[in-house]
Amino acid sequence: MFDKNEDETYYHYFAYTMHVNLPKESEMDAIQALMTRRSYPRGSLIQPAPNRAEVEQILQAAMTVPDHGNIKPWRFVVIQGQGMKDLEGVLRAMYDGQVEDEVYFNRFIQEIINTPMMICVYSVLNMEHKVSVLDQQLAGGAACEHILLAAHAMGFGGIWHSQETTEALRVMLKMGNEDHILGVMSLGTPKRTSLAKRKSFVDYTFEWDQESGLQPWQ
Ligand SMILES: Cc1cc2nc3c(=O)[nH]c(=O)nc-3n(C[C@H](O)[C@H](O)[C@H](O)COP(=O)(O)O)c2cc1C
Repeated sequence: MFDKNEDETYYHYFAYTMHVNLPKESEMDAIQALMTRRSYPRGSLIQPAPNRAEVEQILQAAMTVPDHGNIKPWRFVVIQGQGMKDLEGVLRAMYDGQVEDEVYFNRFIQEIINTPMMICVYSVLNMEHKVSVLDQQLAGGAACEHILLAAHAMGFGGIWHSQETTEALRVMLKMGNEDHILGVMSLGTPKRTSLAKRKSFVDYTFEWDQESGLQPWQ
């Protein structure tokens, strides 16, 4: 049995619960945002980036992801303006001696520094916690997706890029040895909005019961 005073997971679930009636109409807006989100290549994102109030809303939306144990095993680093320009030096130093194609690399640098805003999300893992490291990483991944979804719902576009957690970035972002970059979310205004073709869930879904076992969804 749960001991409410000892089990922080239980405490997290119920302690702050307050009954509210949410308007039904809002469901449509949420589903529409989910169904129309797509990634926009970094080079197709222009100013404006979300302003301060908007980015705060986006990040607060990211704080609502399911989070086993209420650990909040992530940190957000917002980079824009001068910060974006400063990335050029960081990247040139980071890849010094490893660049095979200068032209491609310079194009990559330009694309990065012209991105209106980036939000780097990294995991801050509690290795001693009873909640598994996988669960903690998944929660951080969900936070990444909430950033993209919230930005999209507010009329912005974005894309999730992976980024190796190099020693230089670890030092720059004051990350611990166990921490990893989960993603770099580039955000801005899409030059042109569009819809992506989506596969049907049907080919990826089964039903299960003991007698029939796994059956393709139909
Ligand atoms: C964890 C993760 C890391 C990703 N890293 C990259 C990346 O480094 N480069 C890239 O082009 N796309 C990356 N993507 C994929 C894009 O963000 C995007 O989801 C994909 O191109 C499909 O576009 P869509 O979001 O419109 O379906 C990553 C996605 C995830 C979930």
